[in-house]
Amino acid sequence: MAKSAVRVAVTGAAGQICYSLLPRIANGDLFGKDTPVILQLLEVPFEKAQAALKGVAMELDDCAFPLLQDIICTDQQEVAFKDANWCLLVGSKPRGPGMERADLLKDNGKIFIGQGKTIDAVAADDCRVAVVGNPCNTNCMIAANQAKRLGKDRFTAMTRLDQNRAYTQIARKAGVPITAIHDLVIYGNHSPTMYSDFANAKINGIPVPQIITDHAWLKETLLPTVGKRGAAIIEARGASSACSAANALIDHVKALSTVSTTLHSIAVYQDGKTYGFAEGIWASVPVRTTAPGTVAIDYSFTHDEFAKAKIKATNDELVGERDTVKELLG
Ligand code: NAD
Ligand code: LMR
Repeated sequence: MAKSAVRVAVTGAAGQICYSLLPRIANGDLFGKDTPVILQLLEVPFEKAQAALKGVAMELDDCAFPLLQDIICTDQQEVAFKDANWCLLVGSKPRGPGMERADLLKDNGKIFIGQGKTIDAVAADDCRVAVVGNPCNTNCMIAANQAKRLGKDRFTAMTRLDQNRAYTQIARKAGVPITAIHDLVIYGNHSPTMYSDFANAKINGIPVPQIITDHAWLKETLLPTVGKRGAAIIEARGASSACSAANALIDHVKALSTVSTTLHSIAVYQDGKTYGFAEGIWASVPVRTTAPGTVAIDYSFTHDEFAKAKIKATNDELVGERDTVKELLG
């Protein structure tokens, strides 16, 4: 029997990231080559944005994707999120040169109040939400705080781009293929304070610090390179990362949809019992997918004093962001 279509709501659909993302969802990269999809695309209610959205939909039509059952273009949240199985919250302002992602909080944070409320009201019972718009951890917290029907565990923020960046840096340094690396997890915020846990990562089963014996490189080059990669891309392209962000979102949703023993970096709700993260924030931690859309945190990793200090710093930043937006938390 043919599978039923997955309804995917995507915000910011006429933006840069979505230009790379939407064709990949429509061609089956996300839910498989046997699963039809319906795209429910949201953009701001301005003529220019709606015209651009129409153009994106026309291009998707012109790809003649066999799995793309329907495209709904709208400026109404209630329409975009109606019965959605997945809500991919990309729409929001990107930062420019010289800004930190947290500088976007006041502008972008308020978008996620209404979106969280509407998703909770109209999305499918099995709905999962992935937040990309920056600062994504705190925006995710804002959206999730509006949810009454859907649990907080349905809301995740994306640190997969940081994980992918760290994989490439380590593979290059060690001179091994990406596939040789395992269990490299990002902790904390999608910001320069994030911690790439190289000490618990492995290359062909051997701890990374035993293969990369230049420990100064791990601490002083790897960490800032990964942490500040977004700014480096902005500096180089004059615009924030787009195709790598779209690719990471595909990885993030696939990771969440596929039950496996693979360790992933995903920012999830913190209950105050994990790696020193404060209760109520969304921090990236090591998770495994135990049922489609459901993850379990792996609490078993240990950290030395260096790592503990880094994780504390990224936690403190997330707590600071929460204080900044306290009036947006319903
Ligand atoms: P963009 O400016 O090209 O596109 C954003 C789109 O969102 C625009 O078309 C805009 O009209 C739309 N939009 C704004 N407010 C909206 C709303 N309330 N509802 C629906 N649509 C809305 O930006 P982009 O390059 O696609 O980046 C989008 C966001 O993703 C930015 O905040 C960026 O910083 C963030 N980002 C996050 C990561 C990550 O790893 N988490 C990576 C890259 C980019
Ligand atoms: C990234 O990491 O590339 C994005 O979050 C964009 C940014 O502002 O850095």
